[in-house]
Amino acid sequence: MAVAGAERVFELLDEKPEEDQGYVELVNVREAADGSLSESRDRTGIWAWRHPHQAEGTVTYTKLEGDVTFHGVDFGYDGRNMVLHDIKMFATPGQKIAFVGSTGAGKTTITNLINRFYDIQDGKIRYDGININKIKKADLRRSLGIVLQDTHLFTGTVLENIRYGRLDATDEECIAAAKLANADGFIRHLPEGYHTMLTGDGGNLSQGQRQLLAIARAAAADPPVLILDEATSSIDTRTEKLVQQGMDRLMKGRTTFVIAHRLSTIQNSDCIMVLEKGSIIERGNHEQLMAERGKYYQLYTGNFEEEGAAAS
Ligand SMILES: Nc1ncnc2c1ncn2[C@@H]1O[C@H](COP(=O)(O)OP(=O)(O)OP(=O)(O)O)[C@@H](O)[C@H]1O
Ligand SMILES: [Mg+2]
Repeated sequence: MAVAGAERVFELLDEKPEEDQGYVELVNVREAADGSLSESRDRTGIWAWRHPHQAEGTVTYTKLEGDVTFHGVDFGYDGRNMVLHDIKMFATPGQKIAFVGSTGAGKTTITNLINRFYDIQDGKIRYDGININKIKKADLRRSLGIVLQDTHLFTGTVLENIRYGRLDATDEECIAAAKLANADGFIRHLPEGYHTMLTGDGGNLSQGQRQLLAIARAAAADPPVLILDEATSSIDTRTEKLVQQGMDRLMKGRTTFVIAHRLSTIQNSDCIMVLEKGSIIERGNHEQLMAERGKYYQLYTGNFEEEGAAAS
């Protein structure tokens, strides 16, 4: 048994690390009165992309703001069968973009490309004006907060689980994040509050409480860009309200890409992208799309929430 176990360990050790040719890094900067940025070793709370230009031997700094654009992006997982076709979209800092569409339309795929879990075949994705292929993957991902449908919790205290969002967050910062996420209330009612041990992937918590912790985690990380895959599991209406409110507070002031199932999320998005078979077939806000009487109207009038739940 030990030999078999060791074999698996060695297999993992032999695994090739993910390739990364990114050379644009995220650094702390100070901003002078004239708006110029200079690198700092201290934690200033202001971040910038450090972009060396080899040909000229210069370095430029671009403030991290969370501006994301897709220019004619084509993508297929195997490089041959295209899953996304000519995706064009932009999100200016602080905007909320919702993706809706039936199952297999490509919603999750788009978010996988922003993370650079996969590289695109054609087109360009720019982040704060920089081609994301040039950005170091670890730094790119550090700037993105991701809240997925199901949250993994580790064996450890509630506080440690929140701190997983940003490992150098202080206790106070984690608690502030929990408050923002609306998780503080239920945590204080746990037997040992923030020091309660979670075991077996948080088996002792309800679905809604796990979602609140996921929001707290993202709040602790405090990223400029958020990617949310809204959970479809039904939770009781009271918790649902807490989750909704926590999400709204988390999204405030951040660029957000949300795969939306909740009507309230969809309705207050700046732009809704309706995807079908890997193409954006309609876009606009809720009122515009309702007036168009197209696919969105159909989805919406055919009881959106049930469609959404069935889709994932
Ligand atoms: N890892 C993968 N490898 C190969 N093909 C994939 C992979 N993930 C998704 N696909 C394919 O890409 C297409 C788009 O899938 P995607 O997961 O983006 O859909 P979705 O819109 O998120 O659907 P859902 O609402 O069910 O989550 C589908 O045809 C799917 O089969
Ligand atoms: Mg999906």
